[in-house]
Amino acid sequence: MVTPELSQSKSQFSPMAKSSVRTKPSSCFSDGFLYLGAALMAFLLVWSLWSYALSHSFDPKTSAKSAADAQAHQCVQENPQVNLHYDPPEETFYDDQELSYSVEKPIKNWDEKRKEWLKRHPSFAPGARDRVVLVTGSQPKPCKNAVGDHLLLRFFKNKVDYCRIHGYDIFYNNVLLHPKMNSYWAKLPVVKAAMLAHPEAEWIWWVDSDAMFTDMEFKLPLRRYDYKKHNLIVHGWEKLIYKKKSWTALNAGVFLIRNCQWSMDFMERWSSMGPMSSEYEKWGEIQRSVFKDKLFPGSDDQSGLIYLLYKEKSLTEKIYLEGEYYFEGYWVDILPTYDNITEKYTEIEKADGKLRRRHAEKVSEQYGAFREPHLREAGIGKDSWRRPFITHFTGCQPCSGDHNPMYVGETCWNGMVKALNFADNQVLRKYGFVHPDLLDSNTVTETSFDYPDDGPW
Ligand SMILES: *[C@@H]1O[C@H](CO)[C@@H](O)[C@H](O)[C@H]1NC(C)=O
Repeated sequence: MVTPELSQSKSQFSPMAKSSVRTKPSSCFSDGFLYLGAALMAFLLVWSLWSYALSHSFDPKTSAKSAADAQAHQCVQENPQVNLHYDPPEETFYDDQELSYSVEKPIKNWDEKRKEWLKRHPSFAPGARDRVVLVTGSQPKPCKNAVGDHLLLRFFKNKVDYCRIHGYDIFYNNVLLHPKMNSYWAKLPVVKAAMLAHPEAEWIWWVDSDAMFTDMEFKLPLRRYDYKKHNLIVHGWEKLIYKKKSWTALNAGVFLIRNCQWSMDFMERWSSMGPMSSEYEKWGEIQRSVFKDKLFPGSDDQSGLIYLLYKEKSLTEKIYLEGEYYFEGYWVDILPTYDNITEKYTEIEKADGKLRRRHAEKVSEQYGAFREPHLREAGIGKDSWRRPFITHFTGCQPCSGDHNPMYVGETCWNGMVKALNFADNQVLRKYGFVHPDLLDSNTVTETSFDYPDDGPW
């Protein structure tokens, strides 16, 4: 049996480590077997050269090369990052019969429990601070809107694309985890369950099903939130909470929440204004009496969050109101900007050959970094010509089709198609294709070698 401290990365370097089939540090020979391994390797090398020479006419150049190739192949680490096989028998919080995933039962000492789990799974320790799990979802039943399920699929594809590019995990939930916590309240039970299912992740990132990434390169500035130990990040403005007292002072459709005890406690308070609580009706009235622009009855999660901040300003020590970039942005403001932004980005690419170089999707972040100096003048957020990070189709209701009567349905659906293709062009590009017309999802053209230097723009 290997003790947890010895597994994975450490065992590669510790002289005390025993080689273990279970932890498999790498397929290269390790530590104690170094001499034996080297001898074996030398033998294999000689043997392979000899058998190669027997079967082929001997060419020292190619045989040296193939031997080096074989060696390089054997030294590829099987999984240099995390060990997905290893779960030691020592008890963790998962073995506690009292532990409940339900929002109804609070969890205590979560920080210690998470830390203990990480200690027992040391391969997950490196990078834990920046590990993010994106959580999203939709209703269990088919959408009422005829194009609803198709749109939701494309919204989901967009999130999967973003997560793949940035190495984040993603969880799509389509079941109500608490029978009373429906509609906009449904996310809180899912976020709690995701925290318990992902002790390896520092952040859970809730993104509504009707929000999409429209800047595939932009990366969450996590250090900004670490700096003063903020635990909950939402797009919002202090002025609108404390002066204007508006129910749209922030948007609760996209939030980043740290996987810690504070968050567990906070979600408990937040949920207590929801349909699970016996005081649900009272909360609806209180919210409407404070936020005069809230026209619909019933307590909602967004007004609830604003109310908590309004009543207890010191919560801003833990809740970061992100107003600098489009942590999420209103589609009505954003939609008209896509064409000019596309033009600006094309100009930048025409001027900088580095950005036109074809590359593997895996190294996309590097090209995002290459682009950054060109975007210094772009500004961030409203009136900026930087690609908006997240475009949120609030009020459009793609699944039910019951959009806010202030919009025409077609404006919503066409807007989504345009935004989806705007985002998809950033992805498809790595696969050699591009939509020349953002409103035409059917058509792609192959990108030429030095695209976009010679069109089709
Ligand atoms: C796009 O750019 C043109 C030309 O610079 C400008 O007239 C127009 O107002 C811009 N459109 C938007 C929505 O910013």
